[in-house]
Parts: sequence; structure tokens; C-alpha cells
Amino acid sequence: MAIIKTYPDSKILAVEAASHIVECARESISNHGFFSLVLAGGSTPRATYGVLATVEFVQRIEWEKVHIFWGDERCVAPNHEDSNYRMAFDIMLKHLPIPVKQIYRMKGEIEPKEAAKEYENWLQSFFGGRAPRFDLILLGLGDDGHTASLFPGTRAVSETKRLVLDNYVRKLSTWRLTMTPQLINQATNVSFLVSGEGKSDILRRVLAGRYNPEEFPAQIIRPEHGQMRWLLDAEAAALL
Ligand code: 6PG
Repeated sequence: MAIIKTYPDSKILAVEAASHIVECARESISNHGFFSLVLAGGSTPRATYGVLATVEFVQRIEWEKVHIFWGDERCVAPNHEDSNYRMAFDIMLKHLPIPVKQIYRMKGEIEPKEAAKEYENWLQSFFGGRAPRFDLILLGLGDDGHTASLFPGTRAVSETKRLVLDNYVRKLSTWRLTMTPQLINQATNVSFLVSGEGKSDILRRVLAGRYNPEEFPAQIIRPEHGQMRWLLDAEAAALL
């Protein structure tokens, strides 16, 4: 059963989400010596990433034991303004003592099919052939019900074998790279960060509406073994 937590505003949500990441990191490092964290893209997580890079939070995690991945990426160069890698790097990663070899960037600048296959190979070698079970996957929610780059009507939504896929998004006339539901649902923790009045309607449809994953791909996210959380601010949760 998903845990839903609602906070008074986006600033408090960002601090609470950062604290949640610290807790997951400490538990993972204590259990198995490292923390595998999958970052979400878009704008919502920016504030949380900024909190993690503050002097107060930086010292709370053993960053040298952290491995960073992305749930999806736009097919652009890493220095492009739309790059999820660039967003996380500029706001957070460049301030943290994470070894460069532990930051696994999806290569948006190369041919999408090749980039997806390469990332999948990296995951398979990172998990050493074991089931690819991330310690924490952060996700956002689009106002059309997508998450990561699992957009309605795209092939990645119904993919059942691959872990990472090149996914053409017709409504945006662009290619994306995305982790698949199959991979995301293996995680130990999956946490959605949703903020703002603009997400209140879609959040109600996803959480309280009919199960219709083709229309609302975020509904496909149901961790098989792990814990799912929805970390919300009051504006986003207004219609729940
Ligand atoms: C991306 C994200 C995407 C995002 C949602 C919400 O690459 O854009 O991974 O899934 O989380 O679109 O985006 P906002 O946080 O900007 O509303």
C-alpha cells in the first residue's frame, strides 16, 4: 500500500523529501554498503536537490558510497538546458563528493537506441547479474499522467522485457530515454514528488480514479517488493 504524505508548501516538501533521501541512504549503506539513487528530471525535484547540496544536508550522507542514476533523459547533449543530467549536476552533483565513476549519465547525445542499450548494460554490470533493485527511485508526475518518460500511448508503457528503452514521444516530437515499469517496479523504494496546484487534478485521477495505465502511465508504478510513497505539497493534494 502506498504511503501518502502531504506537506504545507513546496519548501517544506523539498526539505522533507531531502530528509527521506537521507534516511534511505543511511538504511541502504548500513544494509549493503552503498546507496543506489535514481534521480527524477523535470522541475519539481530541483528544490529537493538544492536542499541536499546545502551545508546542513551534505554532511548527512556518506556520498562516497552513493551511486547516481537517472530514471529518464531527454535526447540532448549533457550541457543542453533541457538535460536532466545538467539540471541535477548544476544544482546538486557538482557540490557533492561523489566519485565521477559513480555517476551514471544517460547519453542523450548519442543515437537513442544505442544509448538505451548501453545504459541497460551498465545496469546489468552494476547489479552483477542479480535483479536490478535500486534502493530509491525518485519520480515526478506529468499533468498528462506520465512519469519518467513513460508517456501515454508510447511503446515504453507496455514494455515487459527491457530495463531501459528509447521512446519516441509523438506529442513532443522528440526521443526520450526511460527506465521501464518492469525496472522501476523492482526498486526497494519508489517515491513520487508532486508539487503545485497544476498537478491537483491529475493526481486525483491517478490516485483516486479508475485504473487506466494506458491513459495514466504513473498508475503502472506498483513496486513488487518495495515501498511506494507520494510526497506532496498541499496544493497538489487539494483534490484528494
Ligand atoms: C522529465 C521527467 C518527467 C517529469 C514530469 C514532471 O524528464 O521531464 O522525468 O517525468 O518528472 O514531467 O515534470 P515537472 O516536475 O517539471 O512538473
